[in-house]
Amino acid sequence: MNETFTIAVDGPAAAGKGTISKALAAHFDLPHLDTGLLYRAVGALTLTGTDPVTAARSLTADDLGRDNLRTPEVAQAASKVAVIADVRAALVDFQRAFARRIGGAVLDGRDIGTVICPNAKAKLFVTASPGVRAERRYLELTGKGLDITREQVLADVVARDDRDMNRAEAPLKPAPDAVLIDTSEMNINDAVTAAIRTVETKTQASR
Ligand code: DC
Repeated sequence: MNETFTIAVDGPAAAGKGTISKALAAHFDLPHLDTGLLYRAVGALTLTGTDPVTAARSLTADDLGRDNLRTPEVAQAASKVAVIADVRAALVDFQRAFARRIGGAVLDGRDIGTVICPNAKAKLFVTASPGVRAERRYLELTGKGLDITREQVLADVVARDDRDMNRAEAPLKPAPDAVLIDTSEMNINDAVTAAIRTVETKTQASR
């Protein structure tokens, strides 16, 4: 198994893990997989009537490329299908194969450091207070023209946190060896710098 340079980035919704993961991938010249997109694609298919397990087992590249995957409705649907053990099982092989690419990879999600890549070289748990995360998501969604209130976004974030953290299968939690980065008081540059430094420290320590 080649996990010589796998970086696992986990954390709750809108903590900044997507931005940090993309920046890590660019900095270390690694491919990046946003695993939330897999669950969002399955969630989106269930909204059109497809059975979640069937959707997860037959997911295609086209499903991942659809342009409605970033809506709050799809986020909630993703969080709901992510509770189902057979859905998660159907998505494991693809994620692990990506993680084991020669040269390494960056994966972000909820269970990367705990379940998908327990041997990852560096594990980050990126978090921020619910209020800060909701405000960031509110600005992102309204920036795209969505008609939504701060209260709705906060309620969505809290509901998703609760479901993601309290499910039986692969709940969202830091791996014991994950380094916590709380971005509540950080701007994006500071958060990326902290993440790069953490990965460098981890990878140098294990050489
Ligand atoms: O990272 P995201 O917000 O796009 O993820 C959408 C949902 O997918 C999230 O609320 C829970 C689920 N998910 C998961 O259960 N495991 C992952 N590795 C990634 C996402």
